[in-house]
Amino acid sequence: MKEKYMITSVKGFKDIYGEDLELFKTARKVLEEIAESFAYEEIITPIIEYSELFERSVGIDTDIVEKEMYTFIDKSVRSVTLRPEITASVARSYVEHHFETKPLPLRFYYFGHCFRYEKPQKGRFRGFYQFGVEAIGDDSPLLDAEVIDIGYNIAKKLELKNLSVKINSIGCRKCRTIYKEKLKEVLEPQYDELCEDCKKRFYTNPLRILDCKKESPELKDILPKMIDYLCDDCKKHFDSVLDYLQKMNIPFEIDNTLVRGLDYYTRTVFEVISSDLGAQNALLGGGRYDYLIEELGGRPTPAVGFALGMERLVEIMKSQGVVRRDKRLIYVAYQQTAFERAIFITEKLRNYGFKVFLDVKNGSFKNQTERSAKRNAEFTIFIGEEEVKTGSVVVKNMGTKEQKQVNIDDLNGFFKEQRNV
Ligand code: HAM
Repeated sequence: MKEKYMITSVKGFKDIYGEDLELFKTARKVLEEIAESFAYEEIITPIIEYSELFERSVGIDTDIVEKEMYTFIDKSVRSVTLRPEITASVARSYVEHHFETKPLPLRFYYFGHCFRYEKPQKGRFRGFYQFGVEAIGDDSPLLDAEVIDIGYNIAKKLELKNLSVKINSIGCRKCRTIYKEKLKEVLEPQYDELCEDCKKRFYTNPLRILDCKKESPELKDILPKMIDYLCDDCKKHFDSVLDYLQKMNIPFEIDNTLVRGLDYYTRTVFEVISSDLGAQNALLGGGRYDYLIEELGGRPTPAVGFALGMERLVEIMKSQGVVRRDKRLIYVAYQQTAFERAIFITEKLRNYGFKVFLDVKNGSFKNQTERSAKRNAEFTIFIGEEEVKTGSVVVKNMGTKEQKQVNIDDLNGFFKEQRNV
């Protein structure tokens, strides 16, 4: 017989299961609850778009569009791309469905799979999930502060430590053009020293030289700072964002080298960095993108948002012991003669909203208890002939080993009290 070889998942893509999945689900729930509490509404966009969308929004000179897109020609000979990010899709959707007729700003949140053909490493995958928020239709600096506040609330709610908010302004079309010229003027004598990528960036996107990890701190030190070149409107906007953040008690650091790797940004850009993540240390990144909707054929419409990498969030939660493994399982052990009663109680508890595992192998209470322990159950309920007669069950707390006889009618109250709910 021909031996079958094992088929693995595609390089850079991974299955999510077990503890990671539990953290993933816990995190997703918290993220969605926070977004909803800020009155953001969910939007689901397709995972595939015409390639043009990302070329025009993310920008043809960016790493994402130049090197990392999963692009192919479909059967009707159109170039389509698996989304590398979701902001462009939300902006396309805004224009396509004439959302400008609704009361602005519109506030969206989303969750979905993204694809980038990057070199896989810790915290960097080819398939990864993003959660993000986008507030579209208002240029108030309060909206910039609001989206950062959402990020801050996520960290607070999940009790994450070792995070810092970095913020910068990259100005508007007007002042950024002047700044770029100045930057090139200072960089020109250093051109030969630049890394190969930065030599190209010098002509295509000199701002990206500021955040290139290969360039030396000495070089960065002599480069002009964008915030010194902001026009009056951009400066006023940036100062107001910082002022709001201070009033909201959100700690931040100004980082003059923060420019972000996507072309659509204007004015505020920010990232939340974690010292627990290694080289890929950005948990979330975002900023204002006041020209994007216009670039996609809509009316001039300012907007701001961020996206967060779910795998990186789970990694931080794991390394900081934010383990919310669901131990709150009730295990039902029974004698075969009490099976009907066991089924009755199991169903009753499930209807009350508890997570209940009915033993399937049966056998001795000792064996069933061992299986319950292996599943990390919080409680085991024992139902034998005696319990059927008395209308009660024995409940064992698997942590403290305490046992108690509880009347069937009191089970709901008993478990709720034990869990303080
Ligand atoms: P981004 O910085 O490219 O921004 O990605 C946002 C987050 O997605 C990153 O901070 C990181 O956590 C996660 N991420 C990105 N690439 C990978 C990868 N290869 N593997 C794992 N995680 C990754 C954006 O995508 C913008 N659309 C953010 C935005 C929203 N700006 C305004 N609104």
